Amino acid sequence: MKLKTSILFFLCYCCGLLLLLSTSCKKDKAASSCGPVTIIYATTASDSCVEKGTIVIHSPIGPGYRYSIGSQPFRSSPSFQSLLPGAYNLIVKTSEGCVDSIRVSIMQASQGPLFTVAKDVFVSYCFPCHTGSNPPAGHDWGRNCDILNKWDRIKARAVEGNPASMPPAGLIPQAERDKIMNWINAGHRITD
Ligand code: HEC
Repeated sequence: MKLKTSILFFLCYCCGLLLLLSTSCKKDKAASSCGPVTIIYATTASDSCVEKGTIVIHSPIGPGYRYSIGSQPFRSSPSFQSLLPGAYNLIVKTSEGCVDSIRVSIMQASQGPLFTVAKDVFVSYCFPCHTGSNPPAGHDWGRNCDILNKWDRIKARAVEGNPASMPPAGLIPQAERDKIMNWINAGHRITD
């Protein structure tokens, strides 16, 4: 007898749970009946290691709209800055609480001519020291990111010889240093 009552109780508990679940499902249905939101956006590419990518949403915008990428909290600003190349899940929440998302790609910026020329100088004059598994000061000039992040140290050591020249045996010819400076003066980006 006692067992039967507890089974009955258990069944009722399950029914209650099902009822609860089905009401929350109904709420989900209401949200999805919002229909798709047309998302119009623009992106700019980024260096592979210096965060320069952007996503700017052109539509929908206005009071009450919220935006998010990835797992970041929703915010009212329709633009995202300082992004690395990659795929992002752009989520838009309308003023009515409807949510829609779209996959957005930040492309890798292509290598510009001044950067390419400067990199050739590093390969010709700084290898074989600054490459391989344990390069001096940790700088491998075969890696674009090392060049982009350390352009100021390259300028100091290999162009100005300050506090000591690079290569250690003496500065490279002026014409080669000019190639480095052309890239630095243009903005020391991978796209220059
Ligand atoms: C013969 C080997 C050799 C060559 C060639 C060489 N380096 Fe170095 N480099 C070193 C060593 C060793 C260090 C660490 C000691 C030091 O800082 O003086 C270093 C350190 C550096 C540093 C970091 C130090 C700082 O002050 O931040 C930079 C930047 C650098 N080199 C740039 C260059 C560039 C650019 C070239 C080519 C134009 C070059 N090096 C060629 C051996 C070399």
